[in-house]
Amino acid sequence: MTVPAATLDPLFTPARIGTLELANRIVMAPMTRCFAPNGVPGADVARYYRRRAEGGVGLIVTEGAWIPHPGAANDERTPRLYGEDALAGWRAVVREVHAAGGKIMPQLWHVGLSPKPELENLYDKVDENYDGATSPSGYVTIGRKVTEGSSEADIVAAIAAYAQAAANARACGFDGIEIHGAHGYLPDQFFWHETNHRRDHWGGPTLKERARFGVEVVRACRAATAPDFPIVFRFSQWKGQDYNARLAQSPQELAPLLEQLSEAGVDAFHASQRRFWEPAFKGSPLNLAGWARALTGKPAITVGSIGLTLAMEETWDAGMVARPAKLDAAAEMVARGEVDFVAIGRALIADAELVAKVRAPTTADSIAAYEGSLLANFV
Ligand code: FNR
Repeated sequence: MTVPAATLDPLFTPARIGTLELANRIVMAPMTRCFAPNGVPGADVARYYRRRAEGGVGLIVTEGAWIPHPGAANDERTPRLYGEDALAGWRAVVREVHAAGGKIMPQLWHVGLSPKPELENLYDKVDENYDGATSPSGYVTIGRKVTEGSSEADIVAAIAAYAQAAANARACGFDGIEIHGAHGYLPDQFFWHETNHRRDHWGGPTLKERARFGVEVVRACRAATAPDFPIVFRFSQWKGQDYNARLAQSPQELAPLLEQLSEAGVDAFHASQRRFWEPAFKGSPLNLAGWARALTGKPAITVGSIGLTLAMEETWDAGMVARPAKLDAAAEMVARGEVDFVAIGRALIADAELVAKVRAPTTADSIAAYEGSLLANFV
């Protein structure tokens, strides 16, 4: 099959997230690395992100970084977004990425009450003394209550910590922030009916009511930065605890969540799916990012399994080249105006130069060279 290079052209046009101008539509997905001892990103981390910027990624979203709130973190080798030592490390990361012509946002992360080894023996009972985490109702997953839900004061403090992290990001020179509201972490624990059983103003029977924590986080981040500081919000149906979980069964159910987040100040939505080509709801081919765009009018980033198996494609003059699987299909979604950006995760760990290679493939980018780079570029 001959696939003209022009097929990928929609990915190589400029676009904006709020006031941020991006050279192309390719985003590096946030991926935890655990290479920041004591939470401090070092020169190796700066080099890792710089290589992806040099390789042509339009926007880098960093690995999740802890906000300054007790219980936000579950790993001490994952970077903090607070503390002078960590912030100095991030300033160097930003400097390197900008020097290579790239743009970069940190991902603000609070795990809330997520499954942890220390909770294993608590899964079937409530432990009145367990106070290790912030959560809406003390549920670690479906039907498993391990503690009581957080107090009003703790919830308010968690929101303030997101705002502090956002202000720190701006002071470091980042081009915006991404709030991690997906995968069963703290904001998603409020959104999901299985983990939020509250009946005060932080919960309720509808997603519209359970949206409030996320909405207040966005408002606080907006207030702590600037009216034009770009804010991306990542959300998902699936949870780390349950891949089949769903926040919403229909676009009508999803709409009040995304509309409120949008009004609170979100500039773009990052809809995390495990396979981007899967429709989000019956009766429409739109995926989750497509629905985020349709419901809010804000730019949307799609993601999920791009480039995990190689497609061999023949171009008119370059012979056989390796091209990440399904990138053409993602480009078509952009061309149809369904989504604005395409995020790539694992394939960009494997090959820092992936974007440059798909833009201008040569015979050197053969399957053998590509596979070799999986090892060579793993840092
Ligand atoms: C992830 N993912 C992820 N997502 C997120 O929102 N914050 C994070 O810190 C991480 N960490 C992370 C680490 C690793 C090693 C992987 C593989 C994934 C999910 C990631 O952003 C992306 O959504 C998925 O990997 C799907 O995209 P790909 O890899 O199929 O392109």
